Amino acid sequence: MALWNAVASRLARQRSWTAGVGSSRALSSWWHSVEPAPKDPILGVTEAFLADPSPDKVNVGVGAYRDDNGKPVVLECVREAERRIAGSMNMEYLPMGGSVKMVEETLKLAYGDNSEFIKDKRVAAVQALSGTGACRLFAEFQKRFRPESQIYIPVPTWSNHHNIWRDAQVPQRTYHYYHAESRGLDFASLMDDVKNAPSGSFFLLHACAHNPTGVDPSEEQWREISQQFKAKGHFALFDMAYQGFASGDPERDAKSIRIFLEDGHFIGIAQSYAKNMGLYGQRVGCLSVLCEDEKQAVAVKSQLQMIARPMYSNPPVHGALIVSTILGDPELKQLWLKEVKGMADRIIGMRTALRENLENLGSSLSWKHITEQIGMFCYSGMTPEQVDRLTKEFHIYMTRNGRISMAGVTTGNVRYLANAIHVVTEST
Ligand code: LMR
Repeated sequence: MALWNAVASRLARQRSWTAGVGSSRALSSWWHSVEPAPKDPILGVTEAFLADPSPDKVNVGVGAYRDDNGKPVVLECVREAERRIAGSMNMEYLPMGGSVKMVEETLKLAYGDNSEFIKDKRVAAVQALSGTGACRLFAEFQKRFRPESQIYIPVPTWSNHHNIWRDAQVPQRTYHYYHAESRGLDFASLMDDVKNAPSGSFFLLHACAHNPTGVDPSEEQWREISQQFKAKGHFALFDMAYQGFASGDPERDAKSIRIFLEDGHFIGIAQSYAKNMGLYGQRVGCLSVLCEDEKQAVAVKSQLQMIARPMYSNPPVHGALIVSTILGDPELKQLWLKEVKGMADRIIGMRTALRENLENLGSSLSWKHITEQIGMFCYSGMTPEQVDRLTKEFHIYMTRNGRISMAGVTTGNVRYLANAIHVVTEST
């Protein structure tokens, strides 16, 4: 009797499950509570731009380099590397930590060609999915091995930094960075925040070409920041997404990092080739952590790989091959350095042109920050409402925080852009 009851109830369960599957209610019930995610403040702008049929539209939203005709650029060194790679390599899995050659070359860019830390094998480093992936790996590592810690993030910062540490469940604190009135660095408040943070705090620093403000500390200020970090025993994670884009010289743009290294800090660095090699969609970058000795570096690297394995197993091979081919060949590396400088110089030229156009229009506002800021972005000081007007009335797309991607400004659109900015800033 007991056996019969068990069989009968199983059949009943099966019947009700089958009926449930057949009904549209059951099919639609799994995700009924899912609401659409908010649009990404940066990539959402690109979506809106693409959907606009206007022939006048201008995209100065996303930080992606364009040539003076507004077209995406593939660097000549990348084209040549691709020719060399084509058909000559297999497509096997990379190790969990990625391409050893690419990582070696990448460390030299950040730590210096003759870095003693590299020679002493004190740097734990893995290939990462561009800068985002490098930051995310670090955030996961931080959560796993320093679960009590928080991360101090500048105000403002690249919006995705917040998402990265939120999803890694690391609590976020902020530190002062930008001074709205001067459109420059709020150095005094920054130093106060570094001083007042609990000893041994984690800080996220932009190594150069701060995103979104285009405002970097001077060399002297970096030295003071480094000293204060030392006094407090803080950890610095440098996000270096724009090496070469600030001054046109990757070596010069690594100055902040070199100062921290000279001062004996055990730092972390997130590097990316999205911008400086134009390898946006290849997702190639590197996370490194400077350790006390080789033994510690081996342990840290193995743990970083362990974090990567269940997330994406091992990183993609093609972008890593491009980078190692370019940086491993002296001639191609020279070509790359020339091309990075060319991109940085075009942007600097566009800064001058935008400022001049606004001044020639008789603007009552000061626009000198356009040429004082550095890197890919100009933090214009425009309000979200003014940005909305630019989009609605002029089909100009940019992030609502007033950030202009100078990489999208060209000889062809700079007057149109200046005129539109003049109209919305003079009439509101
Ligand atoms: C940007 O800030 O526009 C870029 O870093 C692109 C991105 O992924 O947000």
